[in-house]
Amino acid sequence: MKGITLTRYLIEEQRAAAHIEGDLRLLVEVVARACKAISIAIGKGDLAGVLGNAGTGNVQGEAQKKLDVISNEILLEANEWGGHLAAMASEEMEKPYAIPHRYPKGEYLLLFDPLDGSSNIDVNVSVGTIFSVLRCPEGVAEPGEHHFLQPGTRQVCAGYAVYGPTTLLVLTLGNGTHCFTLDREMGSFILTEENLRIPEDTREFAINMSNQRHWEAPVRRYVDELLAGKPGPRGKDFNMRWVASMVADVHRILSRGGIFMYPRDAREPDKPGKLRLMYEANPMAMIVEQAGGAATDGNRRILDVQPDGLHQRVAVFLGSRNEVQRVSAYHGP
Ligand code: AHG
Ligand code: MN
Ligand code: MN
Repeated sequence: MKGITLTRYLIEEQRAAAHIEGDLRLLVEVVARACKAISIAIGKGDLAGVLGNAGTGNVQGEAQKKLDVISNEILLEANEWGGHLAAMASEEMEKPYAIPHRYPKGEYLLLFDPLDGSSNIDVNVSVGTIFSVLRCPEGVAEPGEHHFLQPGTRQVCAGYAVYGPTTLLVLTLGNGTHCFTLDREMGSFILTEENLRIPEDTREFAINMSNQRHWEAPVRRYVDELLAGKPGPRGKDFNMRWVASMVADVHRILSRGGIFMYPRDAREPDKPGKLRLMYEANPMAMIVEQAGGAATDGNRRILDVQPDGLHQRVAVFLGSRNEVQRVSAYHGP
């Protein structure tokens, strides 16, 4: 099916698998359209005055960039009127966003990290958008925060866009992970890679080494062994990459294998890691598992974690299966 548009891919999937309902198809198309708009805004950069700080903060206590705010607004505006959603939630908003009463409501919940890798915006390095789709519990007309708190296994769709040298949309509807490339002249996402597979073994790892002194013992042991290279216990050399945009790091791992780690550490002992479960770790875990990889928090499969807050954080180890299993085993049974 390589070479077909996202629209055609979704229609063919709907016919073949019957697990995609019309509203879910619309939802994916609308999110893809919003990602196109975000890609255009990012591409203009300083010409459109979109770089720099917004002068506001979000619920995580992080300074918002102008593009964090712009991307959030693009996603909200694109998705509020189509009748496919019951509510939305975002990294940039403390509470869920209710669909305005003037529009019909649908049966899905959409969660997103509108702009991932914010620290890279002003230095012209790849950033992205991450999203997750859940079903709104039956009979719930006005979903509240607790209706979003479903484990990642309940996601019906997950995806990310990466705004790099090319703009890509990577998507799973539970039937493999597929990659679409934005054809800028046509304005369409074109299927360029079907059924991505992450190699089970790898010689590449991704972690922010500057936090080494704050890590827990199992992560120190694992990374020390990688750094020891050929003469060490692993008997081979490992390479390291760290973009600091999760989308770009995960996309590299989907393309050629690797392990991505953002462990919990001693800097903020009350927080279990930096990345957010609902709109970063869960969608990435589904995408990675659908490509044959693994994703854990060291102790549990990420998709099995029962969330207790919209902005809950979680430790993340994901990518090539054998490496994720090894570092998880170091955490104990
Ligand atoms: P966001 O820009 O959405 O806040 O996410 C940034 C995340 C993630 O993309 C990346 O892996 C990580 O933060 C980088 O963290 P460090 O700056 O601590 O390396
Ligand atoms: Mn992010
Ligand atoms: Mn973000």
